Amino acid sequence: MTEIKVEIKPQDNDYKIFIGYNILTEIRKFIDKYFSKKRIVLLCDSNIKKIYKDIITGDLEISKNNIFVFPKGESSKSTKMKEKIETDFLNHEVDRNSLLLTFGGGVTGDLGGFIAATYYRGIPFIQIPTSLLAMVDSSIGGKVAVNHNMGKNLIGAFYQPKAVFIDTKTLETLPQKEYINGFSEIIKTALIRDKKYFIFLKENLELILKRDINIVQKMIKRSCEIKAEVVSLDEKEGGLRKILNYGHTIGHAIEKLSNYKIHHGFAVSIGMNIENRIAESQGLISSMERKEIEEFIIRSGLPVKIPKNIQPDDIIKKLKYDKKSVSGIPRFSILKGIGNCLFDIEVDKTVIKSSLNNQIL
Ligand SMILES: NC(=O)c1ccc[n+]([C@@H]2O[C@H](COP(=O)([O-])OP(=O)(O)OC[C@H]3O[C@@H](n4cnc5c(N)ncnc54)[C@H](O)[C@@H]3O)[C@@H](O)[C@H]2O)c1
Repeated sequence: MTEIKVEIKPQDNDYKIFIGYNILTEIRKFIDKYFSKKRIVLLCDSNIKKIYKDIITGDLEISKNNIFVFPKGESSKSTKMKEKIETDFLNHEVDRNSLLLTFGGGVTGDLGGFIAATYYRGIPFIQIPTSLLAMVDSSIGGKVAVNHNMGKNLIGAFYQPKAVFIDTKTLETLPQKEYINGFSEIIKTALIRDKKYFIFLKENLELILKRDINIVQKMIKRSCEIKAEVVSLDEKEGGLRKILNYGHTIGHAIEKLSNYKIHHGFAVSIGMNIENRIAESQGLISSMERKEIEEFIIRSGLPVKIPKNIQPDDIIKKLKYDKKSVSGIPRFSILKGIGNCLFDIEVDKTVIKSSLNNQIL
């Protein structure tokens, strides 16, 4: 089992990411060691409950009355669902002496983490991500949130987990579309921070898509290291952490305008392509680099173009509500070469518009 430390100030907020194959039984040992006096409750979506019910009650030893389930999908990331689960917790007498396990994809981690942040003014939680996206991105860094009608992740908190357990065996049940969805965030981490890692991804793409376990473990480890490093340097997104939003300014707007029918990673890959065009027009990346990335994204099975039913003007309107916007003016995190990313970049509306206009399916 590999361990990566996420350093958060004050130091007692530090935690470890454990990565390995078939390590779910280790979670029980960890809980018995550090949280033996707590009541253990688990939150998962309907899909994970169906696939993993024996493991939840077996390896994780969670009794039936401590398992809480919500309908799968992004629409569950809402204040309404948060309140419903909290009411379920209260009805089942889940008290402040409880530890919450969030077992599932990014929706479970974001929703469950936000519940943990506010339930009885905060109870500890452990992330057990099961989608590739959650393993390399959403489970690390303590951003927990639900969506609002006006935009994504607008209501939330910074609330760090006590540990993250990544069992790569759970990827065996993950549908390929969800796997590729998570790969989009992996491409992102490489592009913003580590050119060598981007070359590794390019050279190993076939094995990655076939889910060769050795390559997959290496890839997850490197992505987690990058995320952990960025978060350790800037937990509350005062500066550097904004680079993790590369591809997300346009991506979130597309995701919202599609009514969440476009998966997060797919919206981000379109966002990366558009934002690279903006970077190219500002002289921050060369046309060769832009094309190299675009070709790689396409080879991975991810989209780069905006679906016809989404209008550029609507995307521009949505940018006002992006959480990085200042007084309604969007700020971008954009590449300056492969492996390097700038943040807080204001871009002229006409540049945004022309980058969008060329990219409709
Ligand atoms: N907090 C953050 O820093 C952060 C970062 C990136 C993304 N996110 C959020 O993450 C969310 C997307 O996460 P997601 O793509 O994991 O969505 P998700 O949680 O909805 O999971 C996608 C689907 O895959 C299923 N699934 C998950 N693991 C599985 C497995 N091992 N086997 C079979 N099925 C499995 C789920 O049940 C679900 O149906 C978005 O809401 C996004 O905003 C948050």
